[in-house]
Amino acid sequence: MKAIPLLIPDMPDADAISPYLRRLDFARRYTNFGPLVMELEHALARALGEPRPHVVTVANCTLGLEIALAALGLDPGAKVLLPALTFVASASAVFRAGLVPVLADVNEHTWLLTPEIARDALRQHKLGCIIPVATFGCPQPPAGWDQFVRETGIPVLIDAAGGFGNQVIGEAATVVFSFHATKSLGMGEGGAVVSRDPAYVDRVRRLSNFGIDLSLGLSTATGTNAKMSEYHAAVGHAALKRWHERYSLRQSLHGFYCDQLSRLCPAVELQARPRNGSYTIMQVALPTETSRDSVMLALADMNIETRRWYLPLLPDHPACASVATCDLSTVRRLGPRMLGLPFHLELTEKSVIWLCSALAKVLATTE
Ligand SMILES: Cc1ncc(COP(=O)(O)O)c(C=O)c1O
Repeated sequence: MKAIPLLIPDMPDADAISPYLRRLDFARRYTNFGPLVMELEHALARALGEPRPHVVTVANCTLGLEIALAALGLDPGAKVLLPALTFVASASAVFRAGLVPVLADVNEHTWLLTPEIARDALRQHKLGCIIPVATFGCPQPPAGWDQFVRETGIPVLIDAAGGFGNQVIGEAATVVFSFHATKSLGMGEGGAVVSRDPAYVDRVRRLSNFGIDLSLGLSTATGTNAKMSEYHAAVGHAALKRWHERYSLRQSLHGFYCDQLSRLCPAVELQARPRNGSYTIMQVALPTETSRDSVMLALADMNIETRRWYLPLLPDHPACASVATCDLSTVRRLGPRMLGLPFHLELTEKSVIWLCSALAKVLATTE
């Protein structure tokens, strides 16, 4: 069996992108909310379903989160709750917005920071905002967070970096997506901030363009440059054109993979996420008694690449060492067991069965 890489980006090829690039040659607009960016925002809003939300594209999800936080106008130093199990970008955005992260636990089955966990955290901390993460693409419950916002008045920004196609847009929570090349809708780099509130999306747009109010020609707030370029939007159009086809390939790969893991490696725990979602990551929890390092080495010997996604946990990164934490008992139990297996559209059913059988063999012989 050939080597099985962890992840292979699934991007549109040059032929698919070139008709959009040609439009740049005619329009001579390369950035600053050009026609391809504006059309992409409409197409993304359409793809997100009815009623269509308001969308502003950004250079990447990290900057999107930073300016989405800035647009809330929280007091400097306000506390923002986020899960200990996430990519460091979620915390960087909080720091860079002049706010203070507080790290919370996740649900033991979905591996999500839930509204219940946020309510518990509120008993200990005065919070200015919550950033629940759509962990490994698993969607956050929009109705649960809408209810939380109604009840507490605390704004919620869902970091759905890897959740495009899975994360539904609710009434009250803002959602931020990533279009990094490794995501299911890849544009190289890119992101979008999505909300039902047009005034809020206008504020985010202004902050993405140096804080300039175009109607006044004046910078009215401290912004940054987080705009998506027309080149990235060209890739975005080509990616969206084949989105439905790629989405259903990912759905069937995910369903088949879960079945094989349950059949061949029943002791391995899967994230409780919708089976018919579009994912790019297959992170599992190994049995408690198993040494993850030994499993990784044994799989590497068989040319199967693995990774500890989102690990170490945020509080174990030096940059977050002094950050306040809530009770992290679930994530502390889960973290050392988690392992990312290969997941990409070049996996055939045969290679999925082969790699699940390889994992089963390794688990039977590894302590
Ligand atoms: C949860 C989470 N947030 C933010 C990001 C950063 O996204 P971007 O690379 O678009 O800035 C990632 C990237 O994988 C992520 O997983």
